[in-house]
Amino acid sequence: MSAPTTRVLPYTAETIAEAARLIAAGQPVAMPTETVYGLAADATNGEAVARIYEAKGRPSFNPLIVHVLDMDQAFDFGARPSVAAREAAAIYWGKAPLTIVVPLSPFARISRLVTAGLGTVALRCSAHPAMMDLLRACGTPLAAPSANRSGRISPTRAEHVLASLDGRIPLIVDGGESRHGLESTIIKITGEEVVPLRLGPVDAAEVAMLIKMKYGAKWKGLVEAPGQLESHYAPSKPLRLNVEKAAPDEWLIGFGAITGETNLSASSDLVEAASKLFEKLHEAELQDRPRIAIAPIPDEDLGAAINDRLRRAAAPRHG
Ligand code: TXA
Ligand code: MG
Repeated sequence: MSAPTTRVLPYTAETIAEAARLIAAGQPVAMPTETVYGLAADATNGEAVARIYEAKGRPSFNPLIVHVLDMDQAFDFGARPSVAAREAAAIYWGKAPLTIVVPLSPFARISRLVTAGLGTVALRCSAHPAMMDLLRACGTPLAAPSANRSGRISPTRAEHVLASLDGRIPLIVDGGESRHGLESTIIKITGEEVVPLRLGPVDAAEVAMLIKMKYGAKWKGLVEAPGQLESHYAPSKPLRLNVEKAAPDEWLIGFGAITGETNLSASSDLVEAASKLFEKLHEAELQDRPRIAIAPIPDEDLGAAINDRLRRAAAPRHG
C-alpha cells in the first residue's frame, strides 16, 4: 500500500519521466500546479484513483477534478463539452485556473470513482508546465485533488505536501511555490447560464461575459458543496447493507468470502473494492432483481470511505 519513503525531486525532465513511470504503475504522485499542489493519478485506472483516497485518508468519496491537455483529449476519453464549454476552455485553459463541469458519456474511459458515480466530470488544464509535461508523458487524463491529508489545508509548497503525506506517496515533484495558493474556480454551464460551483482565482462572472452568457442567477452561496453532490448519486433500487445472505429478490454484491453475484474484491482488498464500487452499483441497477444487497465491508482505511458512500446510497429517498 503506502510507500515507505517519499522522495522529493526538483522539476526536471528526468523527474517527470520518473513521475510518468509511477503513474503508469498505478501510483499517485504529488505535482505542483499554479493553484495548489495536486495528488495526481491515472483517471482511467480505478485502483490508482483509490490510492489517492488511501493516501489522503479521505473519509468519503467526493468527485475529483481531472487534469487534461485540452478539450480534445477530454473528448477522446468520453467528456461531452458543449460549444460554450469549449469556448470557455479556449479562453482560459493553460492561462488561468478555470475548472469546467461537463457531461460524461456512459462509455467514458474515466473511472467512476473519479466522478463518484456522477454523470459529469470536472475538467481543468493547468498553467503549470510540470503538470502539462506529465500529462504529455502519460497520455492519459490525471485526477488530482489537493495533495494533503483529508481535513488539512491545501499545500502550496513541496514541504507542505511532505509534512502531510510523508511515507504515504512515492514522489513529490517540487515545482516551487504555487502562484495562486487557492483552488481553481469551478463552473458549470447550463443552458444560457454560467453557474459558479466554487469561487476561486478566476472571476466566474467574467467567464459568463466573455462567452456571452448570463451569470448564475439562482446562485445562493456554495450551491454544490461536496456533501450535497454526493446525494446526487443514489441507486434507483433499494440497497441493503451488511448482508451475509441475500433474499431471492436481491442482487448481492459480495466482498471477500461472501461471494455474491459479483464481488468487489475476492481477496478482501479495499483498494480494489473502492475502485469497483460505483461500477458494481451501476451494474446491479441493470439486473432484473428489484433490490440490491451488499456484503459487510470492514470499517477501516478505505473501507470507512466505502461505507460512508454506501450509507448515503442506502438512505431513504426524499419525496
Ligand atoms: O485548483 C484545483 O482545482 C486543485 C488542483 C490540485 O488542481 N484541485 C482541487 O481538486 O481542488 P479537488 O478534487 O479537491 O476538487 C474537488 C471539488 C469537489 O469537492 C467538487 O466541489 C468539485 O470539485 N467537483 C468535482 N467533480 C464535480 C462534478 N462532476 N460536478 C460538480 N462539482 C464537481
Ligand atoms: Mg481539497
